[in-house]
Amino acid sequence: MMCDMYPRIDADSDPAALDAADPLAGYRDLFALDDAELVYLDGNSLGRPPRAVAKAVAELLDGTWRTELVAGWDSWVDLPTIAGDELARSVLGASPGEVLVADSTSANLYKLAAAALAAATPDRRVLVTDDDNFPTDRYILAGIAEQFGATLRIVRTDIDTGVDPEAVAAAVGADTAVVCLSHVAYRSGALADMERISAIARDAGAFTLWDLCHSAGSVPVELNRCGVDLAVGCTYKYLNAGPGAPAFLYVRKDLQSRLRQPMWGWFGQTDQFAMGPEYRPVEDIRRFSVGTPPISGITAVRAALEPTSRAGIGALREKSVALTTYALALIERRLVPLGFRVATPRDPNLRGGHVTIEHAKAWQISQAMRRAGIVPDYRAPNRVRLGFAPLYNGFGEIARAVEGIADIVASGAYVEFDDAVSRVT
Ligand SMILES: Cc1ncc(COP(=O)(O)O)c(C=O)c1O
Repeated sequence: MMCDMYPRIDADSDPAALDAADPLAGYRDLFALDDAELVYLDGNSLGRPPRAVAKAVAELLDGTWRTELVAGWDSWVDLPTIAGDELARSVLGASPGEVLVADSTSANLYKLAAAALAAATPDRRVLVTDDDNFPTDRYILAGIAEQFGATLRIVRTDIDTGVDPEAVAAAVGADTAVVCLSHVAYRSGALADMERISAIARDAGAFTLWDLCHSAGSVPVELNRCGVDLAVGCTYKYLNAGPGAPAFLYVRKDLQSRLRQPMWGWFGQTDQFAMGPEYRPVEDIRRFSVGTPPISGITAVRAALEPTSRAGIGALREKSVALTTYALALIERRLVPLGFRVATPRDPNLRGGHVTIEHAKAWQISQAMRRAGIVPDYRAPNRVRLGFAPLYNGFGEIARAVEGIADIVASGAYVEFDDAVSRVT
């Protein structure tokens, strides 16, 4: 990818000059930065809070809810599809009526994978995923296989380079119902070839189901152009909608009336308030709803999405590539000589928005980083993950983070931290 806005980035680039020339730098002011000195590199796990989210949620809780009480539902009831259409347009490359904001990524994955398995012909009883897919995806697919008498076939993936289309091609065939993979690998940040893998699955007659948690808001996603059948993802990472904010699901338009999800809730029901005797799901994307939508969460999603929509996913990706390019250049120069290994693809076209480095003492180093005001996260085995959110991270922060890590390792400051990994990393 060409970096038109951020040319010639290498380890000698001046971070202050890069920040000064950054056309997206102003977006940082939209975030609540009580701790402006903190180098927050965990926006790929939980984004920083946009000020507009607190305002929008307060307006709901202290305004519409108080004044309208139950009458508020006249407008709230459509928010899952309104927010879904906004996500479809801004970050997912999908069409109106194809995206719904609902539930969690895990729950949505369950609904869509089970629906696809049920819609497949009876000779297709295999679900395909890879061993580097995010744990919840693997567990949910294993659970579906057990519940519905199917088989889970697991492709082996290199945890640095990401899923190999050839390995997927070798694993799919006339027995395959669904191929479920992550677009950006949660550990290394490797970016899967969505278009090619979707074509491989389609040619084998299988449904594709993509997990977009680490790409939504960071990497351009073109669900329609790539012919993707199904997708899920969260809104609390690069989309900054807050801890536990509702997730989204995508179902290609022409598949919607064919797929029946396993949770027959009343929000998927035709003429819901007729309270009829039997379940007759609506024909559109709302049939993938289950129960009462989380209105404060959806309000947060909409407010949080606004800066992403305004900046444009193309510009955000361009900055994201520049940030990771700069980080990798500094890591090569300063951290590799100190015993780190880069686990993320060097080619920007093959990676998403985070960079992962490996070190035998990664857990202790990541704790020492937090104490030094640099927030990464740790992922087994022995990896420090550095997430760069193009809406609020800058080049100066990267330079400070890399120098901070170098100091921690060179001084041995990490040894005072516990070697035993804690429950939440
Ligand atoms: C790639 C990926 N998939 C799925 C999930 C699970 O999402 P949730 O816990 O919101 O269901 C996560 C959570 O971090 C994730 O990173």
